[in-house]
Amino acid sequence: MTKPQIWVAAFLLLFIALFILGRVTQKDESEQDFSTMNSQQMSEQTSEQVTGEKLVQSFGCVNCHGADLAGTNMAPSLKGLKKYWSSRDALINYLRNPNSFMDSDRFKAYEAKYPNGIMPSYDNKDVKDLGKIADYLLKQ
Ligand code: HEC
Repeated sequence: MTKPQIWVAAFLLLFIALFILGRVTQKDESEQDFSTMNSQQMSEQTSEQVTGEKLVQSFGCVNCHGADLAGTNMAPSLKGLKKYWSSRDALINYLRNPNSFMDSDRFKAYEAKYPNGIMPSYDNKDVKDLGKIADYLLKQ
């Protein structure tokens, strides 16, 4: 090879090397994009995945019904609700408007037993969240 040929070959190699380097770094960036997108999706998923158990805590149900939902002197136990509430929809309706259930003997007895506690209505809450709570309570 003559000297000019060596130069040309060297430049060609340099270009090829730069080209490959460019490709590799580009790939890194797109992988990075993908990973940030993934973590965003993950945080959306976690807000979707807030459990009934967490909601019962964050909505303050445990303040009256007890940390273990076994009842306090303010409110009855929420264990074994399945025998009173046949469906999650009925339970959601109750959470949204407990006053409309006060006529039944069971609730009249509660009223007498827990004069200091009043079950608040949660009609300002997302029905999806109430559904999660209902699902959770029906398993207790
Ligand atoms: C301020 C106290 C208080 C808070 C907070 C509270 N409750 Fe109650 N809850 C009561 C009382 C008292 C009763 C009994 C009925 C009555 O007297 O209104 C009751 C009754 C109930 C019942 C009916 C129980 C049965 O035997 O059928 C359910 C279900 C229930 N609460 C769920 C919840 C959930 C879920 C939350 C949170 C989203 C919550 N409660 C928050 C006081 C409270």
